[in-house]
Amino acid sequence: MSTPEPVPSTRYPKRGGRHSHPRFVHPSEEEFARILDFYRIKWVYEPKSFPLRWEGDRVTEMFTPDFYLPALDLYVELTTMKQSLVTRKNRKLRELRELYPDVNIRLLYRKDYQSLLDKYGYRALTPTTLESIDHVLLSNEEIQRKIEDLAAQISRDYEGKTVRLVGILKGVAFFMTDLMRHLTVPVSTDYMFITKYTRNGSYSGSVRILKDLDQPIEGEHLLLVEDIVDTGFTLRYILGYLQARKPASLRVCTLLDKRARRLVEVPLDYVAFEIPDEFVVGYGLDHRELYRNLPYICVLKPEAYRE
Ligand code: IMP
Repeated sequence: MSTPEPVPSTRYPKRGGRHSHPRFVHPSEEEFARILDFYRIKWVYEPKSFPLRWEGDRVTEMFTPDFYLPALDLYVELTTMKQSLVTRKNRKLRELRELYPDVNIRLLYRKDYQSLLDKYGYRALTPTTLESIDHVLLSNEEIQRKIEDLAAQISRDYEGKTVRLVGILKGVAFFMTDLMRHLTVPVSTDYMFITKYTRNGSYSGSVRILKDLDQPIEGEHLLLVEDIVDTGFTLRYILGYLQARKPASLRVCTLLDKRARRLVEVPLDYVAFEIPDEFVVGYGLDHRELYRNLPYICVLKPEAYRE
């Protein structure tokens, strides 16, 4: 018998061509959806039904998985702890896998949410740090997609040249490695570590170099890689410093551009995302050295960074 076709689920009324806000059958589904939303993981509730048994042409049993996660091409069926239900579901899942071998489906207990969400940095947060986060602004998936586009553009622009990537530590660590992974032109790397001078507790607009470049840059094609451009003071200082060392060319690539806060104009050649005037952490960016390891970028609640 050839592989049967799943059919659109009819359990929920559609409105405007899309599923209306679903009425979740079980509170665990609502909780799961809320966690997925927080992490900006796209989901669809019960989009398809898979016929499992037939009498003649008539379908007598179907299975409708709770969720579909397009980014992972994964169907998810949540389950309660009730053993009787789990046994029935397991039987259906076994049949579904036999009939539809290409369909990727997982049965998740409540405790399994976390292991699935580990991929999205769920456990990197303690209750206190989670409490400080307002929302996830950019998921890792969105970041990766944009980086691939940017890397393709940079590779085209530097065709036939070797590019020296200069990263400004520490916030740029994730972005720089992910970006260079996708560059198809020859690349060498160097890093600078700078600190901002403060006056009476606030940023004075000048910076100090704590770690200089390891290699000379005269005659090199430099691409300065930044995590975020805010007022523009840091970047303006670094550009002046690098320009004085006579590179063959100098361009700037930044992951984030907080344009609304700009105080000095700086040329940005490649911008992954323009973001609103909010304090963001994750994907290398920190607040007091925390949150750098989150694979996504999130907005901190103002009370978490105001003294
Ligand atoms: P600028 O000199 O004001 O443009 O500041 C740029 C630097 O400030 C970045 O390299 C970061 O270290 C830091 N910064 C600015 N905004 C944020 C933010 O929202 N989160 C984390 N660090 C930030």
